Amino acid sequence: MSRCLITGAAGFIGSHLAEALLEAGHEVVGLDSFIPYYSRTIKERNQEICRSYDSFTFHETDLRYGDLRSIVSDCEAVFHLAAMPGLMKSWSEFQLYSSCNIEGTQRLLDAARDENTPHFIHISTSSVYGREATGAEDAPLEPFSPYGITKLSAEQLCRAYNANFGVPITILRYFSVYGPRQRPDMAYNILISAMLNNEPFTMFGDGEQTRSNTYYTDCVSATLQAFEKKEKALGETFNIGGGEVLSLNQVLRILEDITGRKVNLDTRPARPGDQKHTAANIEKARRILGYNPATRVKEGLVEQVDWHIRMMNELS
Ligand SMILES: NC(=O)c1ccc[n+]([C@@H]2O[C@H](COP(=O)([O-])OP(=O)(O)OC[C@H]3O[C@@H](n4cnc5c(N)ncnc54)[C@H](O)[C@@H]3O)[C@@H](O)[C@H]2O)c1
Repeated sequence: MSRCLITGAAGFIGSHLAEALLEAGHEVVGLDSFIPYYSRTIKERNQEICRSYDSFTFHETDLRYGDLRSIVSDCEAVFHLAAMPGLMKSWSEFQLYSSCNIEGTQRLLDAARDENTPHFIHISTSSVYGREATGAEDAPLEPFSPYGITKLSAEQLCRAYNANFGVPITILRYFSVYGPRQRPDMAYNILISAMLNNEPFTMFGDGEQTRSNTYYTDCVSATLQAFEKKEKALGETFNIGGGEVLSLNQVLRILEDITGRKVNLDTRPARPGDQKHTAANIEKARRILGYNPATRVKEGLVEQVDWHIRMMNELS
């Protein structure tokens, strides 16, 4: 069993990944600095299950300033999820995005190089492709938002540390992840909240924008496969998306069906940086990692709505 570091371990996906590794018998070292992009209470709640394991330890440390070498030391894998995500705030808070996503990654890579970390799994995003993300991994990289630009820089840093110092990297580009614990700034979370509270939902664009809808368990499975099939994954970049591409309008209808409520739409023009179409080409991950996303969108959204209702009841 391995000792694994997860950065961003208090976040939406990092906390689920930590649980999966703990469940599989690994030792998990979590790192997060609780950036107040959304509430610390939510992030602490994300960690409740992890904290019940003796094999979980946690460092409240910021990648930009902390002593990372001592944390990375003796870890057989680093899963680097910590980042400032979401694109809208990246226009107004560029310094925060660039420092967390670029400098934070560079400091972690430095530590991984110095400590000879055997596998550095870097989590990237479909946003590195730009307005459309529908091709294979070698499609042009033309990010369309400051967020995408910082995440592409982080990828390039990983490649530079690999080429110059042999840091053993794998890059996973996630596509629109959803499910329980989804970040409060993400569209499905906002939409479900609006529907359950009978409030209007502000839709940017005509609703025909498509997404690759990756249920969190599928993206966690892909990440574990990249870890377990290290020899095949080393040096590679993989798209990790769900199997079902739907437009926002189609998701609205599914959520109306699940909640039994009509959505009250407030339609506005698309925002700067918004992606138009994402449709993950996951052939490479299927072929090399054996990745096979299993969750249908309706099934995953039922789970997310259930979780949302439980959270609302607990907080009321
Ligand atoms: N959620 C998605 O749909 C999605 C899609 C593509 C890629 N990603 C990538 O997946 C990763 C996780 O995303 P998420 O949705 O779980 O986000 P999240 O905000 O829930 O989790 C990220 C965590 O990183 C922490 N963090 C940020 N900067 C830090 C720093 N400097 N030092 C220490 N901790 C720091 C935050 O406090 C947060 O808890 C990110 O790298 C994101 O770019 C997410």
